[in-house]
Parts: sequence; structure tokens; C-alpha cells
Amino acid sequence: VVIAGDFSEAGDALRSMMVEKAFGQAGLRVVIEEYMTGPEVSVLTFTDGRTVIPMVSAQDHKRAYDGDQGPNTGGMGAFSPSRVYTPDIAREVEECIIRPTVKAMAEERRPFKGVLYFGLMLTPQGPKVLEYNARFGDPETQVVLPRLKTDIVDIFEAVIDGRLDEINVAWEDNAAVCVVLASGGYPKSYRTGYEISGIEEALKDPDVMVFHAGTKKIDGKYYTSGGRVLGVTAIAKDLDTAIHKAYQSVNNIYFENMHYRRDIGRK
Ligand code: GLY
Repeated sequence: VVIAGDFSEAGDALRSMMVEKAFGQAGLRVVIEEYMTGPEVSVLTFTDGRTVIPMVSAQDHKRAYDGDQGPNTGGMGAFSPSRVYTPDIAREVEECIIRPTVKAMAEERRPFKGVLYFGLMLTPQGPKVLEYNARFGDPETQVVLPRLKTDIVDIFEAVIDGRLDEINVAWEDNAAVCVVLASGGYPKSYRTGYEISGIEEALKDPDVMVFHAGTKKIDGKYYTSGGRVLGVTAIAKDLDTAIHKAYQSVNNIYFENMHYRRDIGRK
């Protein structure tokens, strides 16, 4: 994706992809979309193809370094709820984006069942869709699902059976923050195989969860095996407390060259 600030930058991107073939054959077909500005919010939904139930909102942090600097990554952290996704915006998104999307797929006889991810941008002209994903989001899921009160298996079964309208999906009135611990150098080159310590200490807090992404276990010990190594999620009554708790837990964990952002949840 090239975010072009003007026609000349867009022209350069097209020349590089389609004439100079910077991406080989893959660049011969391109999609041109409207340039948008504003905060990004992720809204995941459950749908059985007819009924659609939005989950609580979340925001992720894609850049490698604090202050949204540095290269794009698979996600350096996330928090839920979003501070900018107000109940009024949520109503508008549900009415103008979420329900029409699911309805249109049903009308085209391609009803979608499962988790549909709405990547939104809250532009000065109102909320707009950046992308859809037919899956959960990473690392948004690590802050959304810990807030779910209802048994997720009951929801999945209702999705499969087409009776989501019978389910009351309930959420905790709290907040969650996930800090991703990455291998130094990620998303470019990095080394793996370092022993990870402190996971058990972090887990002593019952409001903390540690999700494994790039780890491997050998003889009962964990070692790094990828770019994004762990996701440390903390749950608390509000975002500020959850941020504090997540970073306190991160302080317990160590591996060589460990890198993480210090500003997760501060957007
Ligand atoms: N966090 C972005 C995604 O899951 O696509």
C-alpha cells in the first residue's frame, strides 16, 4: 500500500508498480482508493449472515516505535475501548456500515457467517471503511475477548445455527490493554532463540494474560522464535489503570534484545 499525498506521488507509485514492475506480476493490477485522514478504529462483529452483533471497539498500534514512528508491523499493541468511538459514532457505524454490509452479502446470496472485522477511519466527513477482514484482528482480539462476559462457544454455535438473534452478548464495563513484546530489530532482521524469563511472575496478577505469538518451549523453558514474541494483556476498571498494570507486568518479563512500545493505549 502506498499512501500518496498528491497526484504526482500516486503517479510515481503506479509507474513503479505497473511499468517498472517493482512487485513483479503482482503489481499489474492495482486498487485506487480515496485518501482519508482520521483516527483508525477496529470494530469486530459476530454475524450469522442475518443478525450482526458488534463487539466492543478497539484500536491497535501498527508502527514499531513510540509516537507512531518507524516501520509498519503486525501490531505492537492494542487497547479497548477506543476513546474516540463514542456511542453516537457507534450507532452511525452500525446503521450505515455494519448492517448494510451484512445485508448486501445476504442479498447477493453470499451470506457471511463468522467474525467480520471492520477497519474504520473516523474522517472529518464521518466514519468510513478502510478494510474488511473475514477474521478476528491481531492484536485487537487480545483486548476484546478478555472483556466478553458471554460464553464464546454459545455465540459460535448460534452463528453456525443462524440464531444469533437469540443470544444476548454481554461485555464487562472495563478496559483492556495489550503490549506486544518483540524481538529487537523486528519487523526487519532480528535474532531468535533467546530464553524468556518472568512469564510466571507476570501471571501472578489474575488480571493479566500472556499470549504466546513467537515462542517455543524446550524442556519446560520458553525461547523466542519470531518477531512478535508475546502479548501481555491487562484488564482493569479503566484504560489508565489497565495501561499501568500492563507495563508493570511487562517489567517482570525479560529476553535479550526485547523491544516494546512505551505508549500503548495513549492514542
Ligand atoms: N490489527 C490489524 C489486523 O488484524 O488486520
